[in-house]
Amino acid sequence: MKRTKIFKLLNSETPIKDVLIKGWVRTRRDSKTFSFLEINDGSCLKNVQVIADSGLDNYDAINRISTGSAVAVSGELTPSKGSGQKWEVQATDIDILHMSPDSFPLQKKRHSDEYLRSIAHLRPRTNKYGAAFRIRSELSYAIHTFFRDRDFRYIHTPIITGSDCEGAGEMFRLTTFDFKNIPEIDGKTDFNQDFFGKEANLTVSGQLSAEMFALSLGDVYTFGPTFRAENSNTSRHAAEFWMIEPEMAFCDLEGNMDLGEEMVKYLATFILDECKDDLDLFARFVDKQLMNTLENIAESTYVRLPYTEAVDILTHSKFKFEYDVSYGKDLQSEHERYLTEKHFKKPVILYNYPKTIKPFYMRLNDDNKTVAAMDVLVPRIGEIIGGSQREERLDILEHRMDETGLNKENYWWYLDSRRYGSVEHSGFGLGFERLIMLVTGISNIRDVIPFPRTPKNIDF
Ligand code: 4AD
Ligand code: MG
Repeated sequence: MKRTKIFKLLNSETPIKDVLIKGWVRTRRDSKTFSFLEINDGSCLKNVQVIADSGLDNYDAINRISTGSAVAVSGELTPSKGSGQKWEVQATDIDILHMSPDSFPLQKKRHSDEYLRSIAHLRPRTNKYGAAFRIRSELSYAIHTFFRDRDFRYIHTPIITGSDCEGAGEMFRLTTFDFKNIPEIDGKTDFNQDFFGKEANLTVSGQLSAEMFALSLGDVYTFGPTFRAENSNTSRHAAEFWMIEPEMAFCDLEGNMDLGEEMVKYLATFILDECKDDLDLFARFVDKQLMNTLENIAESTYVRLPYTEAVDILTHSKFKFEYDVSYGKDLQSEHERYLTEKHFKKPVILYNYPKTIKPFYMRLNDDNKTVAAMDVLVPRIGEIIGGSQREERLDILEHRMDETGLNKENYWWYLDSRRYGSVEHSGFGLGFERLIMLVTGISNIRDVIPFPRTPKNIDF
C-alpha cells in the first residue's frame, strides 16, 4: 500500500477505511489504555494524531517510542473525538521504523534560531523551518509561473565564469592548482597552466550571459545560485545565494521598473493566497505585522524617486543615522529602510544613481553623471531588487569599461552584442533569500537558506 501524505489526509472530506502514513513522532502521551502519537511527515505544518490501543501486539514498544523516531502507521481515518482537530487515525498496526535515542536534540520546547543554526541538518524538522522551506519551494514555483505566463524563456547561465559582472572583485576563485606548487611566469601566477587556461571564478550574476539571450530570444530570465566573497557579516548577505534575473530586449528603465513592481506584488499575493497555514505561523510567532506588510506590498502603488531626491529627503530628516548621507555615496540599508518604512511607508523604487557607484554596464544618462539604474526597496529588508537599463551604445560602453578598469579583451563577446543589432534592453536581479525574509518576517538570511554559507561558516 502506498503512503498517504498527512497534508492530503487532513484535507479529506470523508473518513477513510485503510490508510498508511509514514513520518516522525513529535510527541507521545499515554493514558491507561491508549497512547496518543503526534506524527508529522513534513508535507504540512499540522501533525496527525494517531491513537494506539493497548490491544496492539507491540504496545509495550509503542509505549517507549521517543520524540524523533520514525514510524509507519496503518489504520483508519476517523473523525476526532478530541477537540482541536477534525481527523485522527485509529491505528491497526504501528511499525517502528527507527527508534531515536533520548539524545534527539529537538525535544518539545522552543529553541533559539542560533541554536537551530548549529543543527541545520535537523532544523527542517521543526514547525518554523519546515514552514520556511515549504514557502521557499512554493515561491520557486511561483517565479517560474510568473515568467511563463508572460512568455519569458528560462536560461541556464554558467556558474563558472571568467568575467566579473559587478566589477566589485568579490569573486571566489576556482582553480585546480596545487597550492604548494603554483606555476609562475615572470614572477606572476601562470594561469595558462590552470584548468581553463585563464583565471576562473564562481559567478556573481548571470546577467551578462542573460543579456546575450535577451538579444536573441526577447524576454528571458535566469534563476540560479550566485556567489559573493563579501566579507561582511550582515543579516542580509550570504556568500552563496539565489538570484532571479529577468532580461528584456526592447525595454527601457520604466518598463524594467514596471516588471519589478509587478513581480514583487505577484509573489506577495501568491504567498497570501497559497500558503495560508505556513504563513499564519510566521504572522503569529515571528512578525505580528506580517500580514499588514504583505498586503501593503501586494496592493500599494510603489513610489518612484530619483536617487538625488532620496538624498535630499535623507539629509533633511531629523533621524539619527549611523552613516552619513551625501550625493555620490551608496545608501546603507538603514537609509533604504528609513525611506520605505518611515518616510513613504510603502515600497520605493529609486532610480538614476551616480555612475561612480554603479557597474560599467548601466546606461549613461544625458547628464553624463547618472546611470539608468533602479533599486526596489521594501520594508524590513531595504534593497530587494537591483537592476538597470543596459548601455547599448558601443562607444560609450567601451569608454565606461576603460573608466572602471575592465579588460575589454575579456569581454569581446559582450561587446559584439553592441556591434550586431544592438537595441535598448533592461533587466534586474531579485535576491531570492531576501524575498523569503520579506514574506516570512524572518530577520536573518541564515535562516531562509537550507545550509547557509557565510564568512567562516561552511558546516553541513
Ligand atoms: O544589486 P545586485 O548586485 O545586482 C546584480 O547583480 C545585477 N547584475 C542584477 C541584474 O541586473 N541582472 O544584486 C541583485 C540582488 C540584490 O538586490 C539583493 O536582493 C541580492 O541580489 N543580493 C544578495 N542577496 C544575498 N546575499 C548577498 N550577498 C547579496 N548580494 C546581492
Ligand atoms: Mg545592488
